[in-house]
Amino acid sequence: MKYTLSLVFFSVAALASYGGNLNYHSPSLNHPSLGVSIRKVAARTYAASPWTPDQLNFTHGVASGDPLSDSVILWTRCAPALDNDKSNTTVSGHAELYTHDNDGFVRASKATVCVEWRISTSKDFAKASDEGRVYTSSDVDFTIKVEARRLKPFTTYYYQFNICDSNVTSPLGRTKTIPAKGKKVASPIKLAVYSCSNYPFGFFNAFGNTVRKDSVDYVLHLGDYIYEYKNGDYGWGNSLGRIPLPDREIVTLYDYRKRIATYRTDLDLLASHQNFPWIPVWDDHEVADNTYRDGMSHLNNTEDSFIHDGGVSVDQRKANAVRAYFEWMPIRQVEMDDNLRIWRNFEFGDLFDLIMLDTRQYDRSITDLYWNTEYVGAIAEDTGRSLMGARQEAWFYRKMRESSKRGAKWRVIGNQVIFSRISRGQGVFNYDQWDGYVANRNRTLANIYDNKIDNNIMLAGDSHASAVSDLVWLDEHSYDSASGGGSVGVEFAGTAVSSPSPLGQNVTIDAAGAAAGFLAGLNPELQWGDLYYRGYFELSIGYDAVDAEFFGLPDMRTRNGYEISLANFTVKAGENRLHRYGGAVTASGKAESGALQRGSIVGTNLTHDTETGRYFVFGKN
Ligand SMILES: *[C@@H]1O[C@H](CO)[C@@H](O)[C@H](O)[C@H]1NC(C)=O
Ligand SMILES: *[C@@H]1O[C@H](CO)[C@@H](O)[C@H](O)[C@H]1NC(C)=O
Ligand SMILES: *[C@@H]1O[C@H](CO)[C@@H](O)[C@H](O)[C@H]1NC(C)=O
Ligand SMILES: *[C@@H]1O[C@H](CO)[C@@H](O)[C@H](O)[C@H]1NC(C)=O
Ligand SMILES: *[C@@H]1O[C@H](CO)[C@@H](O)[C@H](O)[C@H]1NC(C)=O
Ligand SMILES: *[C@@H]1O[C@H](CO)[C@@H](O)[C@H](O)[C@H]1NC(C)=O
Ligand SMILES: *[C@@H]1O[C@H](CO)[C@@H](O)[C@H](O)[C@H]1NC(C)=O
Ligand SMILES: *[C@@H]1O[C@H](CO)[C@@H](O)[C@H](O)[C@H]1NC(C)=O
Repeated sequence: MKYTLSLVFFSVAALASYGGNLNYHSPSLNHPSLGVSIRKVAARTYAASPWTPDQLNFTHGVASGDPLSDSVILWTRCAPALDNDKSNTTVSGHAELYTHDNDGFVRASKATVCVEWRISTSKDFAKASDEGRVYTSSDVDFTIKVEARRLKPFTTYYYQFNICDSNVTSPLGRTKTIPAKGKKVASPIKLAVYSCSNYPFGFFNAFGNTVRKDSVDYVLHLGDYIYEYKNGDYGWGNSLGRIPLPDREIVTLYDYRKRIATYRTDLDLLASHQNFPWIPVWDDHEVADNTYRDGMSHLNNTEDSFIHDGGVSVDQRKANAVRAYFEWMPIRQVEMDDNLRIWRNFEFGDLFDLIMLDTRQYDRSITDLYWNTEYVGAIAEDTGRSLMGARQEAWFYRKMRESSKRGAKWRVIGNQVIFSRISRGQGVFNYDQWDGYVANRNRTLANIYDNKIDNNIMLAGDSHASAVSDLVWLDEHSYDSASGGGSVGVEFAGTAVSSPSPLGQNVTIDAAGAAAGFLAGLNPELQWGDLYYRGYFELSIGYDAVDAEFFGLPDMRTRNGYEISLANFTVKAGENRLHRYGGAVTASGKAESGALQRGSIVGTNLTHDTETGRYFVFGKN
């Protein structure tokens, strides 16, 4: 009898601890059939964990993200350690508890793992600001996601996990809350902006460079954090030894988990997650190439494609991808009953509002799937088409108006695909960008014009090229490319962390420069464009100005800290365009590569080694 009673007490406590791991709530708290039954998982803690602490590992470091002024999401993964001989299926004497794959990745186990966590302003955790004890299990891929609360605004914190009742700890993480809503911010806020990190195409040096420089407060990732292809379909094949596992096109929940896990072995990606809070959104490849609401380029929503592509439907494939993403990324699921919703916003004091959009998975009208390009071109101007769906569009326009009315200095919009029109003479460059959804773009611009919304900074990724433009409504308001007159903001579109140039992975710097010059000639608002370098950019956001610095990576075939400063831009508050220095939009009138309106290209190859601080000319030792 006594025994039974103690079990009851245990189960109440256990339920609370399971609930503390937010991943048990995902993808839907109120629809258990869509998610995990916490009650059933908790029931398993009646049996003691079969693993001793030395049989468990923090397998993929730590991560934090979605910071608010008083809370932040902390992430880790703690799984049973496997024998070195990965072919041995009787693992550590607990064969009955596992199934696992050839890489020692546990797929299913009934047993649970208990983990404790704490967060503090000091590295020695003398005084914890918040702490807790939670469980994880194979139901959520042994991932752990907790929300640390009761934190102070715009403050650096350290956090760590440990296996319950042991001194086995995770790596030490660092994170930072954002300024309190509506409050003045003492210093400029620095963001690193990334997109399109493709594992087989190169080392993720770009992520590590900001860690080595310790140059930013927060990291934004605008999507294509992973790619779905099998090895060799998109990448260098085996030459870098970076095989994306499982080595096939990914479709199942296991596949998506395993693929993210493979990416999360890159040391620079791990370092970025460990040192900076991330605010990521997905683009298409977190599910598959050129996704929209009902399909993707390799999977039509038809019985025919269902049969040919292994019996996975579009909706189920998306659900698998999204579930793995929420398990592995240190972010909040905004609406527990809408697991496709990732669009959300952050208020950084009264300095800027960050609006993160999903122009891809949520409710996008049909896109260019390669076999229907002409059709999408023909309907690109239809008013019914949307990149976001009516619900997200209404939210986006409202957030922009509210932000402006509240007096936040800047509106920074984290978006996937390039917003500005990019004409290539005959037609546009890419109907998979906003160019294929003209009415949605017009509605966005009308909202800005009609409500006189100032100081707008649109961000984009996806294209694998850098494109810096004045934000203009062509054919509606006159625009002067020289002065920037008629512009209502700026678009900073960044290149890829490692995915290849749209002109191909082996394009020469001269050919890429010529192509950029061709596009700049046709698109007067495109002030600087570069199709050669992989890299990222940093933004420094202050009350008077936003400064942007674009970086190119000279070599990603090895792990190194090299980068080249490509171009710098300033947007002064109230100017609503790139700041002009005499003629050009860079202070020196120069850029390292690509094409610059009214400026010159001077290729110095002057490379900064962020590891040693040394500067050298790349290619000349
Ligand atoms: C897993 O943990 C054990 C015990 O703490 C340790 O010996 C082993 O090196 C770890 N394995 C990995 C891959 O980190
Ligand atoms: C597999 O692991 C078990 C338990 O650790 C051990 O007893 C056994 O000898 C191993 N088998 C092989 C073939 O290595
Ligand atoms: C953890 O380390 C401390 C200090 O070395 C020690 O006193 C304590 O017994 C250890 N705890 C466990 C569970 O090993
Ligand atoms: C999708 O359907 C179109 C039109 O029938 C066809 O051209 C295309 O190859 C199909 N793609 C797949 C992946 O089934
Ligand atoms: C978008 O705005 C431009 C400029 O006013 C106009 O020419 C075009 O017809 C508009 N398209 C749609 C679909 O609203
Ligand atoms: C680029 O060069 C590499 C190495 O020489 C080669 O393996 C690859 O096939 C080339 N890619 C293309 C698209 O030509
Ligand atoms: C950009 O600005 C930094 C200093 O803030 C400078 O070191 C760098 O050379 C500049 N880059 C270019 C291309 O002008
Ligand atoms: C810079 O590197 C490119 C190749 O990336 C090369 O074509 C060019 O000659 C180099 N320029 C200088 C000044 O070293």
